[in-house]
Amino acid sequence: MANVTILSHPLIKHKLSIIRDKSTSTKQFKECLDEIAGLMAYEISRDLETKEVEIETPICKCTAEVLAKEIVIVPILRAGLGMVDGIRNLIPTAKVGHIGLYRDEETLEPQTYYAKFPKEITEGTVILVDPMLATGGSLVAGIDILKGKGAKDIIYVGLVGAPEGIARVQATHPDVHIFLAALDEKLNENGYIVPGLGDCGDRIFGTK
Ligand code: PRP
Ligand code: URA
Repeated sequence: MANVTILSHPLIKHKLSIIRDKSTSTKQFKECLDEIAGLMAYEISRDLETKEVEIETPICKCTAEVLAKEIVIVPILRAGLGMVDGIRNLIPTAKVGHIGLYRDEETLEPQTYYAKFPKEITEGTVILVDPMLATGGSLVAGIDILKGKGAKDIIYVGLVGAPEGIARVQATHPDVHIFLAALDEKLNENGYIVPGLGDCGDRIFGTK
């Protein structure tokens, strides 16, 4: 699939299996999510641009490479928050914006309640984070908001995606690269990913 990368590293697979298990505690769920987010950040950061700078080591002057653009992490609340720490551990200079969205349980349509971004979203690389890509409504709405604020370079990082959601995002925002830990089978009649991991926000925060 164009613009979709499934990061099937053995450690990501192993930790995702723990996360999927319904007997996994809130504590262990969050710990594994942090670890997966860090591993995914390492993989996706391979493609970040670097630029040359002149530095002076204790021995001599030399040319070295640093990240060319600012990085802005934007979680979609609530569940996206669960992946921020793991990514920030690897890219501690990243700024963080927030988009507040929830899926209406009846219509499955996204409802926006919050949006705040650092100024770097217009020229930087935006890593949009949300563990679950189900119908794709939330992700499309999140990308719409970011582009409306001037973001031009956006990548998406999530845990589990359904084919329906991927197709919707590809049709609406083909420029946004999708990185997932797993591509699942389908959505059920309630819009949940099968086999999935249940309601990710509830599992991260211990609600319901
Ligand atoms: C979940 C998830 C995504 C959305 C995915 O959030 O974190 O944002 O559902 O579904 P979609 O692709 O069909 O839009 P939810 O609406 O449950 O809100 P929460 O994170 O606040 O629990
Ligand atoms: N949101 C979730 O948290 N889980 C799903 O399976 C679908 C949407």
